[in-house]
Amino acid sequence: MKLWGGRFSGGRRDTLFEKFSESFSVDQRLILYDLRVNQAYVRELARARVLTASETRRLVSGLEAIRRYVQTHPQWAKGQSSEDVHTWVEARLEKELGPVARKLRTGRSRNDLVATETRLYVKDAVAGLERAAINLLDALVAVGKRHPREVMPGYTHLQPAQPVLFAHYLLAYFEMFRRDFSRLEECRASADELPMGAGALAGSSFAVDRDRLAHELGFARVARNSLDVTSDRDFVCELLFCCSMAMVHLSRLAEDLAIHSSPGFGFVEMAEAYSTGSSLMPQKKNPDALELIRGKAARTIGNLSGMLALLKGLPLAYNRDLQEDKTALFNAVDTARDSLDLAARIVRTMRVHPARMQAATAQGFLTATDLAEELVRRGVPFAEAHEQVGKLVRYCVERGITFAEIPDGDARLMLPLWDAGLRAVATSPERSAARKNVVGGTSPGQVARQLRSAGRTLSRLKTTAKPAK
Ligand code: ARG
Repeated sequence: MKLWGGRFSGGRRDTLFEKFSESFSVDQRLILYDLRVNQAYVRELARARVLTASETRRLVSGLEAIRRYVQTHPQWAKGQSSEDVHTWVEARLEKELGPVARKLRTGRSRNDLVATETRLYVKDAVAGLERAAINLLDALVAVGKRHPREVMPGYTHLQPAQPVLFAHYLLAYFEMFRRDFSRLEECRASADELPMGAGALAGSSFAVDRDRLAHELGFARVARNSLDVTSDRDFVCELLFCCSMAMVHLSRLAEDLAIHSSPGFGFVEMAEAYSTGSSLMPQKKNPDALELIRGKAARTIGNLSGMLALLKGLPLAYNRDLQEDKTALFNAVDTARDSLDLAARIVRTMRVHPARMQAATAQGFLTATDLAEELVRRGVPFAEAHEQVGKLVRYCVERGITFAEIPDGDARLMLPLWDAGLRAVATSPERSAARKNVVGGTSPGQVARQLRSAGRTLSRLKTTAKPAK
């Protein structure tokens, strides 16, 4: 079945092109949206007196019967072929109802139809992604609460920098995913306008009440411009950006955990369920789940740049290029949602080794800055203090010792003020962390505050998030 036979002389079609142009294999996922939008639209046609009461009844119940069939037959699309899901529904309706089905597409086009369904899909996808983000936020807070005071080495340039609390480290990711959540909220608002009634590009000549239709379908408002709403997909790009940004955050988390679980670090250990072995090396336990999250981020970023490239040269209004949007969209949403869910499970089940973290803080001279700052408190200019401590570090490095192992007499050669107080500063990562007592800093008090605030944020997000379909 074709929706546009009349203009054509009926010559032979090219099957390669037919296969090339079909989108049913992809957009069949929109089936329930298609049926829902069609039902609401048919009712509007009735109110506009385009359809009689009995035609309306038959069309609505015909669409309802298809919905029931689809919902009870998960394999409904198997062996079916059609140009797209909209064509399939119309063909199926005609098979069930006969000629009255041919009134279905009065005054509407697949252009406003597919834009409407894609927006409905995006709104539901946002809800699903939000739930997954909440799972991960929840896991980060839960693990943070279990380890509220443990120190670990903090790194810059992947070189030992200063001690930080493990919970503080986890909460850094909490902040990132919390922002991802807010971005999703904004994306939902962008998608929340109704295209139906825009027709192919110019609007509808039938007096459908678009406000009522918007309300019926759960849209916040009606799109103001028919050319715009049938041809732009900026809301798709926005969601692809949300997915990509979340995947980039996940990828950094995955990279961190892969490093921290390597035996050289040994701070954490992934559960067996998220690890794999080697077919050759019997000792291996590899963090493949983390690597796959990191790898799949590349695809999502590709989907975003592909979608931007797709739009950049399109003349107004609808062009068939737009059909390619759904492959990118579905793929990115599935990938981001599954990755968030998986990361939540990985974080929740990983073993944490606080003793290894603590031991690692003795290496790398993490308290060097604290020493210099202690000298500042005693009146030494910072630049001078920096120089003295730098020399102390070089002295230790050359002898392969830590701050704890340096004899007092030797230390005093570089730091004339060296005493028991300075030694205590040099050898206590906990004291270093405790001193970072500014808002957002890594002291136990500040981190406890951050944990409480994260807990409050989380319960707020849990109550506002829409249930996922
Ligand atoms: N399958 C198309 C899409 O996803 C909708 C059909 C619009 N086709 C057309 N020739 N106007 O964009």
